[in-house]
Amino acid sequence: MKSPVEDYLAEVLASVREDRSGAVADYIPELATAPADRLGIALCTPDGRVYAAGDADTTFTIQSISKPFAYAAALIDRGPEVVRRSVGVEPSGEAFNELSLEKESRRPKNPMINAGAITTHQLLVSADAGGDERVHRVQAFFSQLANRELVIDEDVCASELSSADRNLALAHMLRNYGIIDVEPHRAVVGYIRQCSVSVSVRDLAVMCATLANAGRHPQTGETVMDAAVARQTMAVMAAAGMYDSAGEWFTTVGIPAKSGVAGGLIGALPGQCGIAVFSPRLDPHGNSVRGTRVFARLSDDMGMHLM
Ligand code: DON
Repeated sequence: MKSPVEDYLAEVLASVREDRSGAVADYIPELATAPADRLGIALCTPDGRVYAAGDADTTFTIQSISKPFAYAAALIDRGPEVVRRSVGVEPSGEAFNELSLEKESRRPKNPMINAGAITTHQLLVSADAGGDERVHRVQAFFSQLANRELVIDEDVCASELSSADRNLALAHMLRNYGIIDVEPHRAVVGYIRQCSVSVSVRDLAVMCATLANAGRHPQTGETVMDAAVARQTMAVMAAAGMYDSAGEWFTTVGIPAKSGVAGGLIGALPGQCGIAVFSPRLDPHGNSVRGTRVFARLSDDMGMHLM
């Protein structure tokens, strides 16, 4: 039986369903074949209950939504000092695939842009960890957060690797400046495997609810991360999760969020819930068009805006 919450979520999806504006990402060839009309939503409350509507069980690659969770893992593994030495916390005001390094330190401005995420991936586990260990760490951490075993979509991963010139260029620059020391191709392989973990909006809502819940998993009750790590992660999402539309997002929707180029979009409402929407067509910033509209509607209806 559907609950009134699920009826409401279905109605919100219906209100944006006819919007076919935007375009699916095609710089990763495999993503261009995605069924563009898919539309799903899930919301996870602090007691672990999940409310969902639409294509809530369709899986897609996590892409940039991996970035806040990998950042949280790096903060856990290496501590805030070490992480801050390599990656900043300022919005870049630029697209996700720009280099966006700070002038003097040459650190990437934040962990939500590709340069920052490639760097963050290299911080995982320990200074001398191997590439496989780091990929295993994020995959296991994401699975712990989702409360089920997540797998890597090898087709999307191979497809992205076949057209990774831009990320390779970023990794070469990062190594040139001494921000990473691993061979650039290996750095990009690790980062792209991280982006290729396959999830549904149900998974993402539960993952995100752990952030909203100050690091305590809403379903297992485990403390997955310290409250300070969850807070720092959400703070960086608020500042930079929506790239060069972060300010627009925060004025209209007003909650920490992160988008992914496969069409996923998450929002964490501190102390209340994690929300995830999936709709593959993107706006020019790389954010889901209908996902953004759904969040704007939820924010208005439920008074979610933090200000
Ligand atoms: O590195 C990339 O370009 C992709 N793996 C992730 C980019 C992404 O999801 C941007 N988000 N909207």
